[in-house]
Amino acid sequence: MAKTYTIAVIPGDGVGPEVVDEGLKVLAKAAELFNFSYSTKVYPFGADHYLATKEFMPDGQLDEFRTMDAILLGAIGDPRLPAGLVERGVIAATRFGLDLYINLRPIKLYAEHLCPLKDKKPEDIDMVVVRENTEDLYTGIGGHFKKGTPDEVVIGNQIFTRKGVERAVRYAFDLSRARAKKKKLTLVDKANAIEIQQLWRRTVEEVGQEYKDIEYDFAYIDAACMWMVKNPESFDVMVAPNLFGDIITDLGAMIQGGMGVAASGNIHPGKVSLFEPIHGSAPKYKGKNVVSPVAAIAAVGMMLDYLGEKQAADAIEATIASLLATKRIPSLDASSGLKTNEIGDLVASTLAS
Ligand code: IPM
Ligand code: MG
Repeated sequence: MAKTYTIAVIPGDGVGPEVVDEGLKVLAKAAELFNFSYSTKVYPFGADHYLATKEFMPDGQLDEFRTMDAILLGAIGDPRLPAGLVERGVIAATRFGLDLYINLRPIKLYAEHLCPLKDKKPEDIDMVVVRENTEDLYTGIGGHFKKGTPDEVVIGNQIFTRKGVERAVRYAFDLSRARAKKKKLTLVDKANAIEIQQLWRRTVEEVGQEYKDIEYDFAYIDAACMWMVKNPESFDVMVAPNLFGDIITDLGAMIQGGMGVAASGNIHPGKVSLFEPIHGSAPKYKGKNVVSPVAAIAAVGMMLDYLGEKQAADAIEATIASLLATKRIPSLDASSGLKTNEIGDLVASTLAS
């Protein structure tokens, strides 16, 4: 029996809607080819909705998401609003509210010519970052004192819980095992300067006892940035606290060819999870039909993999890889010479061929 999925779609701001359209185009083709069905419900959340209603999402929205199978998001963020306001109101609120504790970010080079690093080949760049997604400085615990005066004081707290760290670490060990590649886990931290991050090291050491087949090591965030550029082939699965995971995955996106290809899954295993390109709303390109929808299409692939439609997910990834390697999609930036919708058409038609 073909399965039917219910998918929430949040096109969002800036280029979000145009890249999500192409993701949905490929989803429709995949459903036809791989025999599953789905329904979508589109939500208007983002800057326009906030400006018109003064709310980010209505009460009860998270409960509604909980009745669905997955959420596909384009991008959130708009220069008319204070930096981060609507991002926190929609993206962070959903990550925290649904306890999407893993932010899974594959970094894979599909074609040598896309890599800015000298002499690095697709086999050299194939890693996954498991970013903890519900703790760290992102919780917003803290505040201002004497705001706006010369005596202003601000305090933000870096929060880690043993449970939160352990579930991310376990997920990362399991992933390294399931990938069956280098069978290696690298913890990225700054435990030399930030003593509380020793919790991460202790957790990796303890949980690591249960994964004798997986080798693990530790890299300080600054050194990890250096190694990702110098020796990306040394990584398999990386696990990182929220903020460091955010930072190294933009670096990762660049070594795999740019923000136009990098996708992510915000996951609570077994529960409704959210998939999105990792790029932002890129307001200056909004409505121009020039940005790459490949990252959004790859996010659809990750969503299908999560839903159990592995054949469809693999086919989408293989199609992206072959279109990039053969330069039928010549680049991942706004100057590829192809329109956003033309790239979506190309992926959909190649998937079917
Ligand atoms: C990301 C983004 C977000 C983050 C922003 C928009 C809050 O950079 O998903 O990587 O920092 O998590
Ligand atoms: Mg980021």
